[in-house]
Parts: sequence; structure tokens; C-alpha cells
Amino acid sequence: MDIAILGGTGDIGAALALRWAYHTDHHIRIGSRTEEKAAAASDRYVTTLADYDVSASIDWGTNDDVAAGADAIVLAVPPYHARGLLETVASVLTPGTIVITPAVGMKRTDAGFVYNPPSTGSLTELLAQSAPDKVSVIGAFHTLPAGRVADLDADLGMDTFVVGDDREAHAVVCGLANEIEGIRAVDAGGLVCAGAVEACTPLLLTVAQRTEKMNDLGVRLV
Ligand SMILES: NC(=O)c1ccc[n+]([C@@H]2O[C@H](COP(=O)([O-])OP(=O)(O)OC[C@H]3O[C@@H](n4cnc5c(N)ncnc54)[C@H](OP(=O)(O)O)[C@@H]3O)[C@@H](O)[C@H]2O)c1
Repeated sequence: MDIAILGGTGDIGAALALRWAYHTDHHIRIGSRTEEKAAAASDRYVTTLADYDVSASIDWGTNDDVAAGADAIVLAVPPYHARGLLETVASVLTPGTIVITPAVGMKRTDAGFVYNPPSTGSLTELLAQSAPDKVSVIGAFHTLPAGRVADLDADLGMDTFVVGDDREAHAVVCGLANEIEGIRAVDAGGLVCAGAVEACTPLLLTVAQRTEKMNDLGVRLV
């Protein structure tokens, strides 16, 4: 598959790019608001992968460039910019493109991280409302700690909740998650369930912040 990671220069974008390039044959494209930043990130990922004896070709370009014709795009940008970015690239998406969102709106307070959803109930639902026709939005990867996932030596042993109404697209994203060694996709329901999934991230961050030796927490269902 052609997977475009918009905002692929950032933390979760890097983690997913490295892992997909390491464990799969998918064709990865790194998107950014600026070509230079995308090119530099792509170079960094290729260099990291070369240290693991993986010769990867990772494309790069502006978010618009890489989204055009992609089978799936990941909106790997801060939550409050995800809808604007989706609207910006909407005209270059082809019918059938899957939009994957890992984004979670939250606030940091003295008492811990607090989930801060839009009035639709979740960011995933908001993006689904904003998506062009024949483009499905699937929520996934919200609880993955980017630093640990980007460390190709790390044993992950983590689950990721996957939510969405289009069951075919949902299955594709579960497949993409399961192809990363150490990650298991868990069906967490339709879009209406996305708020519950997104709310797990501030919970993990609060626990990590308050508990020794619990950095980079993920979720594992047993
Ligand atoms: N970090 C994690 O561990 C983690 C884990 C799971 C989910 N998430 C979610 O994934 C999303 C990205 O997180 P992150 O930590 O990777 O974020 P990040 O590193 O802070 O930012 C990712 C990229 O977003 C782009 N960006 C910044 N401001 C933007 C704007 N105004 N419009 C469009 N693009 C903008 C930047 O790319 P350019 O400057 O190159 O355009 C940046 O490199 C968030 O919504 C977060 O909730 C994060």
C-alpha cells in the first residue's frame, strides 16, 4: 500500500514510518508543510533503517503532494490542526482513501491530563464529518508511545484500539497495525466508540507522569 504520513516529521509520524518501513513492504511517503522538512525527516529515517540493514526508499513532499493518490493517509499532526489539514488535502484524495487518525485533544492541568473532545464527542467523529465522500476515517494508534515505538530495538507487546464505521477500511487498518511486530489491533467498535478510545491517552499520560519507571506506557489487554 501507499501510506502517506502527513506531519510525518513529528514523533508519532516518525515512529509509524520507521516501523512500517522496518516490518513491511508498504511504500511510505513523509508529508510536511515544507518540502525541506519532509526531505530531512525522510533522510533521517532512511539512515536509521540502514543501521538495521534495511534499505528503505521513503518518499517525501508537501502534505498535499504525498496525500495525492495514497491508499491511506495518517493525520499525524496536533489535534487542533487535524481537521484543517484534512480539509486542505481533501481535493487530492481519491475515492477509497482511508484516513487514519491517532490524534487526541487534551489539556494538561496540575491534577493531570484531561480529555478535551470537540462537541461531536471525539476528534475521530469530527474528522469523519469533515471527510469527503467515499473517504473513510478510522481511529487508531492513539495509545502508542511514539518514543518507544520509534526504537526499533524495543519489544512492543502493545495493543492499539481501532475504531470506525466502514468495516472494510477498519479491517485494512487493523492489518496495518498487526503488521508491526509487537502491536496487536483490537476492534474497539464504530465511530461512536471513538471518545472512549481517545480518552485512554490522557489517562496513560497522567499515570506515566505520576509513577516512577512508567514512561512510555502503552495498553495491553489480557
Ligand atoms: N507523540 C505520541 O507519543 C503520540 C502517540 C499517539 C498519538 N499521538 C497523536 O498524534 C498526533 C501527532 O503527535 P506528535 O507527538 O507526533 O506531534 P508533533 O511531533 O508535535 O507534531 C507532528 C507534526 O505536525 C506538524 N504540524 C505542527 N503544527 C501544525 C499545523 N499548525 N498544521 C499542520 N501541521 C502541523 C509538524 O510537521 P511539519 O512542521 O513538518 O508540517 C509536526 O512535525 C497528535 O494529535 C497526538 O495526539 C501522539
